[in-house]
Amino acid sequence: MTTSVPPSAAAAATSEVPSGTERPIRIFDTTLRDGEQSPGASMNLAEKLEVAQALVELGVDIIEAGFPIASPGDFEAVRQIAQAVRGVTICGLARCAEKDIDRAWEALKHASQPRIHVFLATSAIHREFKLRMTPDEIVQRAVAGVRRAASYCDDIEFSPEDACRTEPDFLCRVVEAAIDAGATTINVPDTVGYATPAEIFERFSMLRQRVPNMDRAILSTHCHDDLGLATANSLSAVRAGAGQIECTINGIGERAGNAALEEVVMALNTRADLFGCRTRIDTRRLVPTSRLITSVTGLTVQRNKAIVGRNAFAHESGIHQDGMLKEPSTYEIMRPEDVGWARTDLVLGKHSGRAAIADRARHLGFHLTGEQLQSLFERFKELADKKKEIYDGDLAALVQQQISGQVAQGWQLLRYRVASATGEAPSVELTLERAGERRTETISQGDGPIDAAFWAIERITGITMVCKDFRVRSATLGRDAQGEVTVEIEHQGRSYRGLGVSTDTVEATILAILNAINRIS
Ligand code: KIV
Ligand code: ZN
Repeated sequence: MTTSVPPSAAAAATSEVPSGTERPIRIFDTTLRDGEQSPGASMNLAEKLEVAQALVELGVDIIEAGFPIASPGDFEAVRQIAQAVRGVTICGLARCAEKDIDRAWEALKHASQPRIHVFLATSAIHREFKLRMTPDEIVQRAVAGVRRAASYCDDIEFSPEDACRTEPDFLCRVVEAAIDAGATTINVPDTVGYATPAEIFERFSMLRQRVPNMDRAILSTHCHDDLGLATANSLSAVRAGAGQIECTINGIGERAGNAALEEVVMALNTRADLFGCRTRIDTRRLVPTSRLITSVTGLTVQRNKAIVGRNAFAHESGIHQDGMLKEPSTYEIMRPEDVGWARTDLVLGKHSGRAAIADRARHLGFHLTGEQLQSLFERFKELADKKKEIYDGDLAALVQQQISGQVAQGWQLLRYRVASATGEAPSVELTLERAGERRTETISQGDGPIDAAFWAIERITGITMVCKDFRVRSATLGRDAQGEVTVEIEHQGRSYRGLGVSTDTVEATILAILNAINRIS
């Protein structure tokens, strides 16, 4: 085992991997695992399948589809994605424990290219306070975990959790042992987003220099954004030899999130002169995929977010606009169309046919089955009767409501009536139905119609909830725009998100609350 390094090797270790050779970088997308761990970002099965298809079309190499032992829902999502999604590696996460690994394999076994990702914390803080294990015990458990995973398939990733705060000697020792045991990818997570770009560069260089069997595995980076450094740190890892980047669409993930896929990919593309690397990503799918993640998670990106924010290519100042008109490269380092921004927002109307709608939905990042398209078409026609011009935002809202509403045995809205007036308690009469059973409730309480709707739904369903977030957004411009309501409720310590869309905001609110409630299993 390696524990020390001669000074000459340490000096060599700080040299960069030569650029200009078009080195392939694998994109490992963990939107469905680390991303889905963000509070309120949970997705249902239909949404996860939709996202997985969009990731394939985007061109990612590996999809981390979930953590199968975590819940029956996670298991089922990984299993169905493994069965349905072809042409990419499907990965499932497991702790270094037999039952986790067996469960991960059970979910992954039908994948055309399965990968098991095992992890175990290695830093002193985690060893002492979380795991209460000695360094020797950590090495033994890591080796046993990797071996068990390798008994199921050839593609094994090992992550020493909190690697960037692990003592260098010990990190080298664990990594060497994991590769000997069968790990083919070594992921070096900055679990708490603590490292700086220079430190990451040194750590990756050190591993390449000091771990004697490092050439038998691909080095991978997984950076969290607690200090806003996840993208910079991931790029630093690439310069020091990482061959895989773990990232998420829109940078969603635990706490401040993970490195944003769109940022690392566009940095590698735009500065190919510097990095000399290539990925398989079809960059024109970045904006549609970002939109899809926003709509299925309810987590909107800020306007000035790099690449996918609404203002990312907007030029406001007169001097900039003048420069842009004379020569776009004066102020634009990337072309909006290269990352998927459409030049125009195509308008549909009541005479638009099914093919035009299918085409627009696909452009927006949605893949619809024949049945879904039929149902979308019917709802599109209903909307077109209420609203003359139907924009991309309207269509995205309709599709999204359809995807997030695919929950079996759910409560459905049959009808409602609401009355509110200055100085009077609001009144709501609500009729819901579930599995053929109808229930009506009339409530005259609350500090407004929305509050009253929450009360009525609680009475009918018997589910008590705390409203943690409530947002109304117009799907498009105009007074006749559809209102898109996102709610986050807490029930028995867990958060559930719901989305509702309607030209009537109170109705959209009721639909959003029901959508959230229907996710409670
Ligand atoms: O941040 C982290 O350490 C992780 C591991 C499970 C890879 O997400
Ligand atoms: Zn993570």
